[in-house]
Amino acid sequence: MKSYKIARLAGDGIGPEIMREAVKVLDAVQERFECHFEYTDGVVGAAAIDACGDPYPDATHKVCVESDAVLFGAIGDPRFDNDPSAKVRPEQGLLRMRKSLGLFANIRPLVLFPALAERSPLRRERVEGVDFVCVRELTGGIYFGRPRGRSEDGSQAFDTCVYERREIERVVRKAFEMALMRRKHLTVVDKANVLATSRLWREVATEIAAEYPTVKTDFMFVDNAAMQLIQQPSFFDVMVTENMFGDILTDEASVISGSLGLLPSASLGEGVALFEPIHGSYPQAAGRNIANPMAMILSAAMMLDHLGLQAEAAAVRKGVEKAINDGVVTADLSHGEKSASTSEVGDYIAAFVKTDK
Ligand code: IPM
Ligand code: MG
Repeated sequence: MKSYKIARLAGDGIGPEIMREAVKVLDAVQERFECHFEYTDGVVGAAAIDACGDPYPDATHKVCVESDAVLFGAIGDPRFDNDPSAKVRPEQGLLRMRKSLGLFANIRPLVLFPALAERSPLRRERVEGVDFVCVRELTGGIYFGRPRGRSEDGSQAFDTCVYERREIERVVRKAFEMALMRRKHLTVVDKANVLATSRLWREVATEIAAEYPTVKTDFMFVDNAAMQLIQQPSFFDVMVTENMFGDILTDEASVISGSLGLLPSASLGEGVALFEPIHGSYPQAAGRNIANPMAMILSAAMMLDHLGLQAEAAAVRKGVEKAINDGVVTADLSHGEKSASTSEVGDYIAAFVKTDK
């Protein structure tokens, strides 16, 4: 039987409770299929700051690099959000983790579950059939550029957006490869009418496009992309963009699906891959058993796919769809109707995965 080493980084807020449900579902996968998962826990985020003063300790990094995949919950804690004097922040742990694991491509797929078409803030005819992937660059741009900080008198603050050709090349290539496996349409999102980094993105993407003649490539300014996501989301197949544009556009896009609590992601790079929901730590819900575990469970499905366990991944996705169709959903999706708790949703999906019934 094939065995996989999984690093389990639950993190902050609702992280631990949604992670519990994902593991419950993976336990069901082990029960039904021929595979075994061996977990090693690592601390990260505010939990790690509390434990050892570092939001991404070396010990956690070691657990990640020695694993076949990393499952990650969420990071963030309101204790740090409005404290300008905080020297370390949980988010620094997330960024350092992405950087040190070389996770340069963040894959954020968006599909509309038919049963949720009415839950979308957009009209049914606009959202039906929406199925696209955003490939977000994850280890460069304004998130990491130097210099950053404050002028000496504190009256000025600055961040720097930097991209090197090779950083653009590798993520754009990944996006073209994804487009080849899908509907062969790639949209490169930038702000080339204003930003030098965007002009380099466009130059590099144009060169690489020549290697993929079967893919239809188009370029779109980010402000227009923000509008097109609402106006005609089914236009998109694969979208590739820089770090901060991708952060913003994917939060926007997530709403189309009916809830931010549904969207998983995969972060891929040079070594081990990481799987995390795109939502944050949702501190208001922490410990209350009300958060939607589906994005975490679907992230685990992306992990299964990545490990080559396609049938297993399909079973998990089917389980999520079944829970949605049967109305076994948390409050974010039930809209006043009876809602299930985090653990009830996990139980329901796990039970389906065990039996396929
Ligand atoms: C995300 C989050 C993070 C980001 C935050 C928590 C630093 O919003 O994964 O989208 O901006 O990348
Ligand atoms: Mg974000």
